[in-house]
Amino acid sequence: MSHPLIDALKQRRSSIAVLGLGYTGWPLALSLHEHFEVCGFDTNERRISQLQQLLSRSSSLSLSYSSDVLSNCDCFIVAVPTPVTEKNEPDLRSLEAALLSVAAVLKSGALVIIESTVYPGCTEEFCLPLLEKHSGLKAGVDFGLGYSPERINPGDQVHTLTTVTKLVSAVHTPWLDVVKFIYETIVTAGVHVCASVKVAEAAKMTENIQRDVNIALMNQLSELYEHLSISTGDVWQAAATKWNFLPFRPGLAGGHCISVDPYYLLHRAKSIPFSPTLVAEARRVNEMVRTRILQRILDHLQHNAIDYAKARILIKGVTFKANVADVRNAKIVVVALDLIALGCTVDLSDPIADEVALLHEYGLCLVSKEGVEYDIVVIAADHSDYYLLEESYFCERTRQGALVVDLTGIYRNRIIQRNYWTL
Ligand SMILES: NC(=O)c1ccc[n+]([C@@H]2O[C@H](COP(=O)([O-])OP(=O)(O)OC[C@H]3O[C@@H](n4cnc5c(N)ncnc54)[C@H](O)[C@@H]3O)[C@@H](O)[C@H]2O)c1
Repeated sequence: MSHPLIDALKQRRSSIAVLGLGYTGWPLALSLHEHFEVCGFDTNERRISQLQQLLSRSSSLSLSYSSDVLSNCDCFIVAVPTPVTEKNEPDLRSLEAALLSVAAVLKSGALVIIESTVYPGCTEEFCLPLLEKHSGLKAGVDFGLGYSPERINPGDQVHTLTTVTKLVSAVHTPWLDVVKFIYETIVTAGVHVCASVKVAEAAKMTENIQRDVNIALMNQLSELYEHLSISTGDVWQAAATKWNFLPFRPGLAGGHCISVDPYYLLHRAKSIPFSPTLVAEARRVNEMVRTRILQRILDHLQHNAIDYAKARILIKGVTFKANVADVRNAKIVVVALDLIALGCTVDLSDPIADEVALLHEYGLCLVSKEGVEYDIVVIAADHSDYYLLEESYFCERTRQGALVVDLTGIYRNRIIQRNYWTL
């Protein structure tokens, strides 16, 4: 006999609410809406009106910035941000606020699924008591609680919500069937049932930390090879001919996953007598890359006797990775702010960056038109458009003797008439 909520969802007698309609919640709401009654809730009024414009008039997907929309739902999927504080501690304020909205309307027989990235234990030790306290209901008896981490890869058209196996878990076994049913309905690649909620939480951490550690290794080797006057690009190309070489490249390792999730795990580890030193060290190494880049830029200015106040620098690509608009935790922006603080003129250019977020988060604007006579051009994201640029482009934009700082490696061995530096 199937769980009553499964039948109710199938027959559209019950609705699913998605809380947080950002990079992850929005595609999730759209996919769910193909099979179920769905409503979307986001506290950002501007985001709601933006999304409403994307929907056709006939769409029955209801979107709202008022939590009233939640009152008719029996399933709640939480996809709100889980960033870090200035001290790199988990910032669970949005998660807490979303759970309070859910608790206020939670009824017997309902299910809550957390999709936000959290540390192992957070669902059971933070979310569960909060829901119980503010709803007066008992988890496992009155309502179900599950965890299913979002695994989408921003900017990737191949690895999407529906094509990547979804990890599913539930605190109490009877609810696992409902969590499985929901995701099996929308994910063509199917689901993997995790042994526990903590396993699902830790798996998400592990995926991103593995990337962080590997990038840190390449960053450290790149710095070492520079001291040894060996090109890391040449080394990488040679090593990559071996079948089991992992193709990680040195880089800024920013964004809201790789540069955040390790801190979540490190936070969790603080309460136990074991310290995952490699995780902490990888983060430290990756955080230092921007200092290395800044230093290389300043060395060029000093070596060429260019006053910081007269230096003209163009930074191309201000998003945290290629072909996405997202500028959150884009570490190159910190380099730009440091250069501006030193008095340099820094022009920012990007074909797809979210300009509103750039202004809102960093107080920075993109230039409407790139200038000329730059002392330094930094290529910080490998947007597809940039692959088409020839050396002549850099020559037109820069003075004789200028430096091209290529954090992508795209122009390796292609810049002859200007100084060239890559990681
Ligand atoms: N973006 C990604 O590629 C990605 C990938 C994997 C996992 N994640 C994880 O998914 C979660 C969401 O990330 P995102 O990138 O979609 O964030 P986002 O900032 O793009 O979207 C989150 C949305 O939640 C809204 N919100 C904030 N507080 C709310 C509340 N109390 N109630 C309702 N809505 C609220 C915000 O207004 C925003 O529109 C995070 O935990 C993140 O780590 C993101």
